Amino acid sequence: MRDLAILSRGAMLVRHGRIQAVGSRAEIETLVSPQTRLVDAGGRVVLPGFVDAHTHPVFAGTRADEYELRAQGATYAEIAARGGGIRSTVRRTRAATEDELMDSARRYRQWFLRGGTTTVEAKSGYGLSLEAECKILRAIHRLGQEGSVRYVPTFLGAHEVPDEFRGRMDDYIALLIREMLPRVAREHLAEYCDVFCEPSVFPAAQARVILAAAKSLGFGLRLHADQFTPDEGALLAAELGADTADHLEATGPAGLEALRAAGVQPVLLPASVYNLGSPRYPAARQMIDAGLPVVLATDFNPGSSPTTSMPLVLSLASTQMKMTPAEAVTAATINAAHSLRQGHEIGSLEPGKFADFAIHDAADYRDLAYFFGRDTARAVYIGGVPAYQAE
Ligand code: NIG
Ligand code: FE
Repeated sequence: MRDLAILSRGAMLVRHGRIQAVGSRAEIETLVSPQTRLVDAGGRVVLPGFVDAHTHPVFAGTRADEYELRAQGATYAEIAARGGGIRSTVRRTRAATEDELMDSARRYRQWFLRGGTTTVEAKSGYGLSLEAECKILRAIHRLGQEGSVRYVPTFLGAHEVPDEFRGRMDDYIALLIREMLPRVAREHLAEYCDVFCEPSVFPAAQARVILAAAKSLGFGLRLHADQFTPDEGALLAAELGADTADHLEATGPAGLEALRAAGVQPVLLPASVYNLGSPRYPAARQMIDAGLPVVLATDFNPGSSPTTSMPLVLSLASTQMKMTPAEAVTAATINAAHSLRQGHEIGSLEPGKFADFAIHDAADYRDLAYFFGRDTARAVYIGGVPAYQAE
């Protein structure tokens, strides 16, 4: 993860949306034709587009009110127990039309681009009814079809038990398994299924039933695991052969060993730790030293992590989790691409892959983390097509 294979004074030839050649500027200049359009990065850093492998980008409203309450001492769990938290965003998202959700999500898409992100894994989970979950997943599809960022859809119907099923979790799980998952599968609305596995939300026994049903329908599995409590989520992810286990702030040695043995990729979300004001970051150093292919993502959502910024996540990875800037870049690009089964198409600048890249306002890739708190992209290309240009 520390070897970024940096080319200084490098160049890249792009054709039909894909990278055709990468090399020194002199080498690439021998390949260009009079029709080739030249883009001069001006000595700036060119990186693969960030692959943000864990986000919740389709929701209505914000939760600035709860943010203010937390600043006065309330905790995330207390606010959720009072009917706020995820359920308050669900009430607003249910009331919004698909077009209203598209409008806000397009605004956030522009923010992702400013940070140099070109692929976003996007979860549903603020609908929690058949129709509202499908509305969100259709919005995610439309966002992807518009072309300026790639979206990978994940069904997160088990994000929380909705108000009308309070005290009747098993009935909600029956709805998930009998109606929602089969419909999402039939209409090809999602590639992955995720569950918020946590004793106070969906305990492992319940999460297992939902995820096993999803697996048998052909979904890949990703889990919100061990955000607050060890090690149930990590152990379940390993048992079910999930692609990823995400969060892992509370995971201990037994959970980590299970992930390693089962080949589950950890997805770490330090911006949500930061924003919740928690001192407990996941054990990234131990994970990397154990050989786990760690992924970094924003967890963009209105409650725990209202940021789209991968440069900020790189900073948190280095300052709070002691990942080197190179490890952080690897975690945010090629490792993340593999976690979405797209390592052959995106995540690095190699011949044959999609030409998804960003020109950053930096002369050294470490500056993205070092000068923290700025979104650094000057220009972003997706499939060789300009998707964003800073003013
Ligand atoms: O990944 N942990 C559960 N889900 C989100 C938070 C969602 C919310 O608060 O709206 C997360 O942190
Ligand atoms: Fe999340």
